[in-house]
Amino acid sequence: MITIRPETTADVPARERLLDRAFGKARRRKTSERLRAGRLPSQSLAFTAADENGRFIGTLRLWDVDAGTAGHCLLLGPLAVDCKRQRQGVGAALMHHAIAEAKRLGHRAIILVGDAPYYARFGFAHGPVAELQLPGPVDRARFLGLELVPHALAGAAGLVTTCGRRTASERQAA
Ligand SMILES: CC(C)(COP(=O)(O)OP(=O)(O)OC[C@H]1O[C@@H](n2cnc3c(N)ncnc32)[C@H](O)[C@@H]1OP(=O)(O)O)[C@@H](O)C(=O)NCCC(=O)NCCS
Repeated sequence: MITIRPETTADVPARERLLDRAFGKARRRKTSERLRAGRLPSQSLAFTAADENGRFIGTLRLWDVDAGTAGHCLLLGPLAVDCKRQRQGVGAALMHHAIAEAKRLGHRAIILVGDAPYYARFGFAHGPVAELQLPGPVDRARFLGLELVPHALAGAAGLVTTCGRRTASERQAA
């Protein structure tokens, strides 16, 4: 049985190896990365999927952003599952757990850039973010939102910017 647990620092090397395999080195040039670079994930919203032996098999994190006129919300991603464990519900388990935790912690909405056919099953759609802009190029069909509180993204317009906690190295450089 797989388990979803909070990410620890011991997970970081395996997480980075998995993300390099899943998205390639160019992942660091993605527009979403501009909202994550130098920031920490939202408090208590970084998750690891572990296998029956406790080994790392998947990752999902959420980040604090300001979504234009909608105010604070979460940016989801990256989501990745070890290729040997795909199509066994690990991605869905990470998604359901992350959405439930975000709701429990009082967050109002989640946005992401990803494959609509995959994320639609969790309720993500393009409509709620249609008038929001990201700080870089993006395929608009892949820009999706989910309201955790009804109407949290109603009329949302403007630029999405980061408001996450800075990493220690970013704090020193500031
Ligand atoms: C996408 C990903 C996280 C799904 O993880 P997973 O553990 O295999 O997902 P689940 O087992 O919960 O769901 C599998 C289902 O999702 C479908 N699926 C996987 N990736 C998909 C995609 N990009 N678009 C549409 N459907 C997708 C599978 O075909 C499968 O469908 P089925 O249930 O009808 O067989 C995993 O394939 C992965 O790590 N991919 C590489 C990184 C990536 O693309 N991340 C998403 C960012 S867009």
